[in-house]
Amino acid sequence: MCGIFGYLGQQDALTLCLQGLERLEYRGYDSTGVAGITSKGKIALCKEAGKLSELKKKLKLKKLEIAIAHTRWATHGKVTTVNAHPHLDTAKNIALVHNGIIENYIPLRDQLKKKGIPFLSETDSEVIVQLIADSYEGDLLKAVCQTLHLLKGAFAIAVIHSDHPDEIIAASRECPLSIGVADGATETIISSDPNAFLGANWNVLFLRSGEIARAKKGSVEIFDLDLKPLQKKTERMINDTPPPSKEGFPHFMLKEIFEQPSTIQKALFGREHALELKGLSDEDLKNKSQVWFIGCGTSYHAGLLGSMLLEEFAHIPSHAEIASEVRYRVPIFSKDTLVVAISQSGETADTLSAVREAKAHGCQVLGICNVTNSTLTREVDGAIFLKAGPEVSVCSTKAFTSQLTVVTLLAIYLARLRGNPAEPLLAALKKIPEQVAEVLKLAPQIEQIAKKYSSYNNFFFMGRRYMWPTCLEAALKLKEISYVNAGGYPAGELKHGPIALLDAHFPVAAFCANGQTRDKILSNLMEVKARGAPVLAFAPADFYEVEAIADHTIWLPAVIDPLAPFISTVAGQLLAYFIAKQKGCNIDQPRNLAKSVTVE
Ligand code: AGP
Repeated sequence: MCGIFGYLGQQDALTLCLQGLERLEYRGYDSTGVAGITSKGKIALCKEAGKLSELKKKLKLKKLEIAIAHTRWATHGKVTTVNAHPHLDTAKNIALVHNGIIENYIPLRDQLKKKGIPFLSETDSEVIVQLIADSYEGDLLKAVCQTLHLLKGAFAIAVIHSDHPDEIIAASRECPLSIGVADGATETIISSDPNAFLGANWNVLFLRSGEIARAKKGSVEIFDLDLKPLQKKTERMINDTPPPSKEGFPHFMLKEIFEQPSTIQKALFGREHALELKGLSDEDLKNKSQVWFIGCGTSYHAGLLGSMLLEEFAHIPSHAEIASEVRYRVPIFSKDTLVVAISQSGETADTLSAVREAKAHGCQVLGICNVTNSTLTREVDGAIFLKAGPEVSVCSTKAFTSQLTVVTLLAIYLARLRGNPAEPLLAALKKIPEQVAEVLKLAPQIEQIAKKYSSYNNFFFMGRRYMWPTCLEAALKLKEISYVNAGGYPAGELKHGPIALLDAHFPVAAFCANGQTRDKILSNLMEVKARGAPVLAFAPADFYEVEAIADHTIWLPAVIDPLAPFISTVAGQLLAYFIAKQKGCNIDQPRNLAKSVTVE
């Protein structure tokens, strides 16, 4: 999975490709590469393991008029320069970049090897370029088309051939690929994400599954898999947003944590009394008999909290599921089921395939998304945008609290539609931005405590009810940026097994904010303490009993139980951030991860 970019036009294709890769680095940063066709009609290639900055150090290519580029998140094969894209055929006439997975690459590679074709890399992608070379008889479009018929899996590709210095062939199967033709018809860009089209005004078309494009300077033709020409409408896109900046913060993550009072406010603004859901009417929503929240990672945690809120306030049976599991279950979906797909990026492959599954069952799907023009928002029946602005840090922070804001508003809206107004919840929600600002003032204290806890290799987070998904989220933050083994548990569950791991070297962070279960969490704290584990409590200011048990306590503003996740989450984000900082980790781009995971 990865980001693909291609450029044909009068500007230097190399420069444009590097700018495009910068915008696509959120899709992976294990390696990058670029290939183009030189004025002498040869393929020129440069690729390098590591981030884009590594490629830039190595680049010696001259100006190019046509080029394709790639940023990789490794699936098949280690993070090496050999496995980096673009991949070439043996004769070095064809270059290919690929996003996705070729599921049948082993038998295909074996067949090619039997024909004597050597392979340099461990990737599934190299199989595609060799297959194209194998069927090439002078027509690149035809050779790519023949190859597509042999491939299983989901993918997007872009291909150039030294005999065709004026064209890029691109194709997609269930992976996003957009093609933009600039005003004046002198330039064409291909990208995994149209938000990477910089500057000019673009007429964009989105390649659907099973479509092939032949892009030339300022024009594009689309074909189906029988090479029958297709007519497709373009959409107008003007992208003049400046690249995000850290605004004086040492990391994007810290900047994004500190943005939360304002991003929560933005998610809330104008939505207190009604939600605009475009394709979904009030009538549609009123008649739903169940709601399924789907998402991955942090977005799944927001879904878990959403399902609790809907159950409590709108009295609708609600369930949250990890998106990658949805299509392998036998979900009892019907047209009375509302599926709520949550995704910061709107490009997560697992979430997109779960959405397609739900739609195939006749469900209406509501998307909750941060990125406009994303694949998710194009496929759902109705969408609510987070309006949080670009989230650059791989570790999601402000998107989560904006997602929480939106799912809370959804619960309030559905509650009203079903005759159970939840006005006190709305009134409390409006105070959250201020209370989050209070938590941010604790950053210096949390940093000091983080120093004390940064030498541990293991961590449990425990909490009850609304605090349980909050613990999952806090544990995910810590794992992903500081590489500490962390788990989140309902506090009552620890005694059913995990407590066996506890000793003086295994601390427990207790999220004590759920008032309804106050007595119970106190007992759980005692149980943990009795095993000698260091205890770090995050407690509301009025929960004085905690102090006598915990080794350290961070006192947080007291809020009602359903909204306590906002407060405890921000404190958990700061803890993870400062532990990672103390350990000297790469906070904004942790190892092995990508901001947007575009393979299943
Ligand atoms: C969160 O910190 C993660 N980086 C990750 O779990 C993320 O939330 C997940 O990959 C889903 O992404 P999405 O919201 O863009 O769909």
